[in-house]
Amino acid sequence: MASPYRWSAFLACILASIGSAQTLREAADHAGVLIGTAVRPSQFSETRYASVLAREFNMVEPEDALKWWVLRPDRRTYDFRAGDEVVHFAQTHQMKVRGHCLVWGRDNPDWLAKGHFTSRQLSHLLRDHISRVMKHYAGEVFAWDVVNEALDESGKPRDSIWYDQPGIGFAGKGTEYIEQLFRWAHKADPHALLFYNEAEGETLNRKSDAIYAMVKNFKKSGVPIDGVGLQMHISTDIDVESMTAAVSANIARLAALGVQIHVTELDVSVRVDSSGVASLDDLNRQAEVYRGVVRACLQNPGCTAIQTWGFTDKYSWIRSHSRGTRGQALFFDRDYQPKPSYRAVRDELSRDRLLKH
Ligand code: XIL
Repeated sequence: MASPYRWSAFLACILASIGSAQTLREAADHAGVLIGTAVRPSQFSETRYASVLAREFNMVEPEDALKWWVLRPDRRTYDFRAGDEVVHFAQTHQMKVRGHCLVWGRDNPDWLAKGHFTSRQLSHLLRDHISRVMKHYAGEVFAWDVVNEALDESGKPRDSIWYDQPGIGFAGKGTEYIEQLFRWAHKADPHALLFYNEAEGETLNRKSDAIYAMVKNFKKSGVPIDGVGLQMHISTDIDVESMTAAVSANIARLAALGVQIHVTELDVSVRVDSSGVASLDDLNRQAEVYRGVVRACLQNPGCTAIQTWGFTDKYSWIRSHSRGTRGQALFFDRDYQPKPSYRAVRDELSRDRLLKH
């Protein structure tokens, strides 16, 4: 039986460790995961935005600044200004940068989406884009979402300009075009970690089964893929325990294939009234959902990053995305005050460190 002395030493260690993690960033450093957030460079000049961001996170990802509609105002132009601002902020504050995203069927500029290009032209355009953008950020962006949301809910490739409308030359050939994109990306920056990023494939369902099958197949045939991004735009309308167990199981099976898992776009939306306010009960429930996600990630060493889709309820895509019915999805309220979700995640990150002692 353990002596009383060992128990009190263990307790002291627990208390000291919990007490010492003042910020998410500290807690995450000690838990050995990255804690990141999506950012809008237009807000860096807002003092509170910048100071909370630098204090609490060790990784950033441009929310929109590296998407085609920002980077490519027209066919000939590459506008890196907003992306460069994010990299500069990150370097000033010793943060890592994730890149999002090189290939997506949505949110493309009209000149591209409605340009009626041939497969050959699209293939050249996309290869050039991947190469120019990745080379521009080589050594600065450590991981890229190479492909975003390419599968539908049944696990089949989604119709898109890149796949089959008219596609880059692999229409009707399943995930072969994705394979090509990872090979191009690896050639452009052999040191960057290459991720497949997807929505609603976090738990065990047809989409996550398809992601698993695709990654397994890629690994077998030597396609250079390093990771899977689980977006995790979720809500409080779930059973926390079963979600945690399912996410953990999904992470475990992906990690067993030898890839890393990043939680890439986590937010937990709650119902809000017409002035955008949620109940305290719902905010406490939200904290438990966040805790479950962190727990699921920390249960597997293959899960190496947890990133939220913004950090203050002042700037979040959820209000407009849900047409005003949901909101308050993040760690800090509109006045940058920490919410129960913040404390739950910080505690959960600190706790894991203890169990590893
Ligand atoms: C969203 C941004 O948050 C918005 O600012 C933008 O208007 C639309 O895109 N999945 C993704 C993200 O991969 O890029 C999306 O971001 C949210 C859903």
